[in-house]
Amino acid sequence: MPTTDETTPSNSTTTGEGVWRERPNADKIPCPALLSFYNNGLLHPDEHGNVTTAHLDKVLESVGVGTGIRKALVTGADNTDEIPDSFNLFALRNSSLDHSGSTGIRDPEISPAKLDNALLKFSDESGRMYAEHFAAAANQAQLQDPGFKGGVIQTIEFTALLQVFGRVDESNKRYVTIDDVRGLWIDGKYPEKLYKNSIT
Ligand code: HEM
Repeated sequence: MPTTDETTPSNSTTTGEGVWRERPNADKIPCPALLSFYNNGLLHPDEHGNVTTAHLDKVLESVGVGTGIRKALVTGADNTDEIPDSFNLFALRNSSLDHSGSTGIRDPEISPAKLDNALLKFSDESGRMYAEHFAAAANQAQLQDPGFKGGVIQTIEFTALLQVFGRVDESNKRYVTIDDVRGLWIDGKYPEKLYKNSIT
């Protein structure tokens, strides 16, 4: 697991397109991480939204997702449609990966008004969200929308989110700021300080 900022997305899979912009059908993506990879030009679907699992695996590896979680995510993605070795980025809502216990900010539709109550209110007094703050948010979501599978997946997703997008504090603990959360969930923007030098 990465512990320093050097392990953030490398330039190896970024191209001249690696600049943030709102891209076609971005509003159809329920996952804040996939949205960010897409809007930043790292994840390349075809014109219908199809992405090969080989490409997904490379993207996840390039941003520092460890082998175990990567395998689980790639297998989960592959199982969302009938086509072997691919998934559709714009058809993940209501797929087999749709689960209970999500914040509801991007699923079933984009609802920025839910940000405060579902996530931001759990931040600490300096506006940081550490693993324990995401755990509290996950617990609340679980109470509102119960289900064992959802709880497990939500925990994996929040853990991976800090692993990939987290800043590192003085004690080497990972966190994101409330602005980072807003950027990721609503616009698909990378936390600026962390990524400004690594995306061309
Ligand atoms: C670095 C890798 C990833 C991270 C950090 C990540 C993180 C997250 C987080 C934090 C959520 C919860 C959103 C919320 O409750 O508001 C989420 C939702 C979701 N993710 Fe990802 N994700 C990753 C990769 C993937 C992959 C590879 C897929 C499938 C191709 C995927 C599919 C989904 C789906 C379908 C949801 C919506 C679940 C629902 O609302 O029921 N994610 N992800």
